[in-house]
Amino acid sequence: MKRTLSIAIRNALRPRWIVKRVWLRLQGVRIGSGAWVAPGARIERQGGAISIGARSTIHEGARLLAAGGTITIGCDCSVNPGCILYGHGGLQIGDDVRIAAYSVFVPANHRFDDPARPIREQGESCLGIRVGNDVWFGAHVTILDGVVIADGCVIAAGSVVTRSTDPLGIYMGNPARLARYRGGRRSE
Ligand SMILES: CC(C)(COP(=O)(O)OP(=O)(O)OC[C@H]1O[C@@H](n2cnc3c(N)ncnc32)[C@H](O)[C@@H]1OP(=O)(O)O)[C@@H](O)C(=O)NCCC(=O)NCCS
Repeated sequence: MKRTLSIAIRNALRPRWIVKRVWLRLQGVRIGSGAWVAPGARIERQGGAISIGARSTIHEGARLLAAGGTITIGCDCSVNPGCILYGHGGLQIGDDVRIAAYSVFVPANHRFDDPARPIREQGESCLGIRVGNDVWFGAHVTILDGVVIADGCVIAAGSVVTRSTDPLGIYMGNPARLARYRGGRRSE
């Protein structure tokens, strides 16, 4: 209750946000109560759908580009400066998720099987990306199409995640590998 009130007061003191919020809502972007989008963040439905949950914050220079797909961000999440979240095959993010600066989520791949034709003419495959609750992505991570990040994971800075993860796993590197589990359990 106290937090909700302080967020409401903070947002009321951001007149540019009030204008931007009205503008985004007119564009069909769904924005939960107490959520905030920085003046320099870009939110573009591009024929898709975008929903930002209650009290979530989208920081300066971040981009949510639906590209005909759906981007759903849960409650109490933060998307830090410079992140790019695409929507193509669907990007679904749970609650309490922290995404550090310059991370990229790409729920699509170009098809490239036919070497006789330019890649740009071969279309895309789109499986979608899902992220559970209470996940922390370090700075500069890349999450590739088809990946499911389970509840409670930590993805270390600079990781490229190519496969789905176990709950509470700490993953590192390129390609990201399980290092251990939160709470001290070691990976097998
Ligand atoms: C994952 C993280 C939280 C620390 O995990 P940790 O297990 O406590 O890390 P440690 O420092 O104990 O290192 C354990 C091992 O993982 C390696 N490691 C740590 N971070 C790594 C990373 N990002 N990528 C690859 N390897 C990493 C260490 O080199 C070490 O390897 P070693 O055992 O061979 O020496 C941290 O490294 C990280 O990536 N933080 C993200 C910071 C960030 O982006 N903040 C943004 C602000 S929100």
